[in-house]
Amino acid sequence: MISCCIFDLDGVIVDTAKYHYLAWVELAQKLGFEFTPEQGELTKGVSRMASLDIVLRAGGMEDRFSEEEKLRMAAEKNECYLRFISRMTADEVLPGVDRFLKELRDEGIKVVLGSASKNARVILDRCRLTPQFDRIVDGTLVSKAKPDPEVFAKGAELVGIAPRACVVFEDAAAGIEAATRAGMRSVGVGGSPLLDKATLQLKSFEGFTFEQLLRHIDR
Ligand code: BG6
Ligand code: MG
Repeated sequence: MISCCIFDLDGVIVDTAKYHYLAWVELAQKLGFEFTPEQGELTKGVSRMASLDIVLRAGGMEDRFSEEEKLRMAAEKNECYLRFISRMTADEVLPGVDRFLKELRDEGIKVVLGSASKNARVILDRCRLTPQFDRIVDGTLVSKAKPDPEVFAKGAELVGIAPRACVVFEDAAAGIEAATRAGMRSVGVGGSPLLDKATLQLKSFEGFTFEQLLRHIDR
């Protein structure tokens, strides 16, 4: 039985990965090096400070800065990222997502957000999606980053559903691992070969129904 669906945000509900990437590129440019799209891939699903380490490593600067300087750089990147997301609209919700969330709610399924981002609420508000969620667990509420299961375990606990009745939707390998470690089944969204450990793989939510989810997952 499935009673709760838990959604990652960046890359599952909205394509904000491009904004994270552009904001990191701006920081890298200021520091005087290039940050490629391939290197940007490595920051998906990773916390803000761990992403900064990836960026600095790409520029060969991993040991150059103090913790204080790093916190300042992360804050600067976030200001840039906020400039991008403050202009977002509901048009940027990925195809089929809104309809699928509504269908889940009509079926009486609990809908929960499980995101590493501290900006999750701003994005959901901008995209007018906040009322679709029973609970929102974001980067301000958890201390351990994916692949630690904390974010998903907390989401299930808040709606009072056992992990075995939860399904997690994720676009990052670390998120699929977190779901498995939480004792939940998972759907890998977006078609990356890195998601092969997911219970089910899905290219997009377009045309995807709750009935199909049950058919593939609830066996
Ligand atoms: C994840 C993104 O959802 O959130 C990562 O995939 C990002 O790229 C992380 O670094 C933290 O986000 P924020 O908005 O708190 O900097
Ligand atoms: Mg993601």
